[in-house]
Order: sequence, then C-alpha cells, then structure tokens
Amino acid sequence: MPNATAAIDGSAVVLSMQGTDAIRIPGRWLRDHGDDAGSIDQVSRQRVVDTFAIPADIAPVELVQTAERLVVTWSDGAETAHSRAELVALATSRRSPRPVTGRPFNISADLALWESPPEPTLLSATAFTEDGLWRDALADLRNHGWVMFEGAALGRESVEQVGSRLGYVRHTVFGGIWTLSPSIQDHLDSAYTSFELDVHTDCTYTHDAPGLMVFAQQERDGDGGDTVLVDGFAAARDFAAIQPQAADLLTRFAVKGHYLEPGVHLVSDRPPLRVDSDGVLRQVSFNNYDRAPVLPEEGWVDEVIDAYAAFRAVLMEPGRSLHLPWEPGRVLIFDNWRLLHGRTAYTGARSFLGFYANHEDLESTLRVHGLL
Ligand SMILES: [Fe+2]
Repeated sequence: MPNATAAIDGSAVVLSMQGTDAIRIPGRWLRDHGDDAGSIDQVSRQRVVDTFAIPADIAPVELVQTAERLVVTWSDGAETAHSRAELVALATSRRSPRPVTGRPFNISADLALWESPPEPTLLSATAFTEDGLWRDALADLRNHGWVMFEGAALGRESVEQVGSRLGYVRHTVFGGIWTLSPSIQDHLDSAYTSFELDVHTDCTYTHDAPGLMVFAQQERDGDGGDTVLVDGFAAARDFAAIQPQAADLLTRFAVKGHYLEPGVHLVSDRPPLRVDSDGVLRQVSFNNYDRAPVLPEEGWVDEVIDAYAAFRAVLMEPGRSLHLPWEPGRVLIFDNWRLLHGRTAYTGARSFLGFYANHEDLESTLRVHGLL
C-alpha cells in the first residue's frame, strides 16, 4: 500500500488509499500493537507493552509517516511504530464475532473447581512405581488439575518414567524432555529467564496445545521461584457469572499466538474459552506474552479488549493463585488446558527437567484407570 496516507480522527487513525475504502483503526487497539522495541521484543516478538495499563480513552496526538512506517505519539506520552502494510493486511482480515447467544458454556460437574487455593498436599514419588498410589494421583490430577510429588530421584530416568505413566513425551520445538534453566540459552522464550511471569497457558501458538506439563526440579539455590497456579475453569465460571456477554464473546473470538526463534515461526489461534459442540468448556487459552495481532471487526474492538482484560482481571484476583514452592526431587504435573501457571521472580540457580504431553493421552490414561 505505497500510497496510503494516515490521519488522526478522534481516538482513531484512518488509513486512506486510492480506490479502496478508508480503514479506521481504533487507537486503543493500535496503541497495544506497535512493533517497536517498547511494544514487542525485537527478536522473539513476545509482547513487552503492558496491555492492561493502556487507558481506555487513549488517543493519538501526532503522526509521523514514512514510506512504509507510521510513528504515533499518544495521549499517554508513549510513542509506537507500525508497519502500514501490516496494518492493511490485518484490516482486510478482520474478524466478526457471532451474535451473543446467552449462556456461554457449561463445565463438567465432576471436576473439583477451586477459586481459593487448597492447602497444597504433596504426594510421595513412590506413586511412580505403585499402581494404587498412581491411580490416586491421577484422580487428584483429574479433580484439581494438578498434582505434586516429592522425593523423586533426580535425573532423566524418573522423568521418563512419569512420561510413560502418562502416555508418552510430546516432542516440540523445545525437544522431548527439556532442561529449563536461566543458564540455558537454546530458546528465546521468557520461561528461560528469572523474572516474574504472569499466569498464562503454554503453546497458544500451536493448534493442539499440550494438555499436560511436567516439571521436575533438579537444582535449587536461592530465593523465590514459586510456581503459581490458577484454576482457569473456576475463573471462567466466575467470569461468566458476572459478565456473561463478555465470557460468551471470548468463546467466539479467536485470539492469535505466535512463537519465533531462528528457523521457527509458529502461529495458531483459538478462542480463550474453547467450548465444544455440546456447549461444554474444554480449554482455556491465555498468554499475553505470546499474543499476536488480530484486529476485531469495527464496532467490536472495545468489546473484545474489555472482555479479554476483564477475564484477565478475574484470573489475577488475589486469593485465586496457588503458590507451590520448589525443592529438588519435587515433580509437578498440571493440566495446561485448565490451569494457568506463572512464576515468582527468583535468584540463584534453579533448573528443571520437564516435558509436554497430550491431553488425549491424559484422558486415555484416566479412562484406563476408570477415572473418566
Ligand atoms: Fe509457561
């Protein structure tokens, strides 16, 4: 779109091109979708800007245009830069949510949803080899979405044992069984750092996000670094109770995720609240770090942003997050389709072995043990 010109129109920016309709881009969306270093990491393309701190009444105050780029100065003092070609491409693939239908979804009645964290109960890693204890652990995993063991042997062997107990280890761009440590620089993901991570689900950029995550701590020396878990199904239930239309919107509007590193560029999308054809909530997907731009249909921009932020506010409510401290020999298994996970900041050495597994294999294992 070499001849497009941009102009400020109230709180929006309007792109005009010869021979086509003008494209109106709400400022509230545009402010969140810069491609400058203050908006996204320039290598991994993970989000840097704090989406949720952007004022709802944000407005552009100045535009600077070059042949390919648009630089916007905003009413909050920030400056963002944008590719005009990308904006046009996004505008021509706008999404229109289906009409609101009322009751957003049901949740399986046999899950033990938790909105205030239970006191963590750790199980003995002897369950890895004793069938009865393993079945009890699976029942916990099914009911609460997570289970943590202590006393596991260090090294790959016990991790492989858990993998074969759950089905099999899933291979991804991170490998099969991976090592997670800030000293590992093989991948660009924020998981390989030591700062605090907001709660999220992994792999919003894969069509079939792993249903299970397994972490086995190998080394610990320093402070902090608790894993933080939130029951996304409980949060979705509570969100739907107070904002049914916003919750319904999040069952219909697909949010895009991406992952980039040299030689890899994964992209997928799905609604944050994925509901099956029977109206049952099957999966929560939420990762603002890995979110990629999608421009809602005009008239839906505020609704989508508000719904996404409102669900995030429920996820972040005090008292909803379960903190699990670590020590070597502890092994955590959790459902990446139901729970969100984060991490407190930490100091010192902290390393894990871990892997992903498929949700259908968890379901298979539960069926085999008469738990589903
Ligand atoms: Fe993660």
